[in-house]
Amino acid sequence: MDVKLKLLRFNPETDTEAHFEEYTVEAEPMDRLLDVLHKVKWYQDGTLAMRRSCAHAICGSDAMVINGENALACKVLVKDLAQPITVEPIRGLPVIKDFVVDMEPFFAGYKAVKPWLITDPHEHEPARERIQSPEERAVFDDTTKCILCAACTTSCPIFWSDEGYVGPAAIVNAHRFIFDSRDSGARERLEILSQADGAFKCRTAFNCTAACPRGIKVTKAIQEVKRAALFGTV
Ligand code: SF4
Ligand code: F3S
Ligand code: FES
Repeated sequence: MDVKLKLLRFNPETDTEAHFEEYTVEAEPMDRLLDVLHKVKWYQDGTLAMRRSCAHAICGSDAMVINGENALACKVLVKDLAQPITVEPIRGLPVIKDFVVDMEPFFAGYKAVKPWLITDPHEHEPARERIQSPEERAVFDDTTKCILCAACTTSCPIFWSDEGYVGPAAIVNAHRFIFDSRDSGARERLEILSQADGAFKCRTAFNCTAACPRGIKVTKAIQEVKRAALFGTV
């Protein structure tokens, strides 16, 4: 079948603003959009710029706005997309070229919440691993699934208008440690997330939950973090 595409192109060396360019590619209904974009890049226009790596919805590098919604190009099938398929870079981050955006503001929010295990320096170091029950693990299981694709943060209207907002992905990754029974940094992270650019900037728009390719209940996690900050429910 012929697949028609409208790709939002931007080359900072030659363009003053982004513009759509149209392509037609021969593809199968069960092809992924990433396969189709590869056909454009490899056989029609090698200047098309995009990030991708695993092609299996694991590395999180090919989030794009596909027919108006954030998704991973490697996870959507041609048969499920209305044509012409429009593809744009994710929103709210500076565009470097075509679908490649500057991820630094996104990772700045991630780093700000200390997304690593913080152990108690006064605690006796266990001889083997730190033990955790299945029930304790279940509390934060959902937020361990994040692949840092930025689909949530770049679908959030608060982030679009305020790049200082840490964004839903950062809060999801803070949640993953705040509610981990082996971690001792919850208070520190909740203080960070109680500041002006933290979790309370969220206005429960739910775009983030709809956008997450891992099915993480992002808004629910944000609400749990807000409750923990307000009432100490960790
Ligand atoms: Fe991507 Fe979901 Fe993680 Fe957000 S929470 S960065 S949408 S995997
Ligand atoms: Fe934004 Fe998600 Fe909150 S879209 S406003 S972070 S619920
Ligand atoms: Fe890795 Fe799509 S290429 S998530």
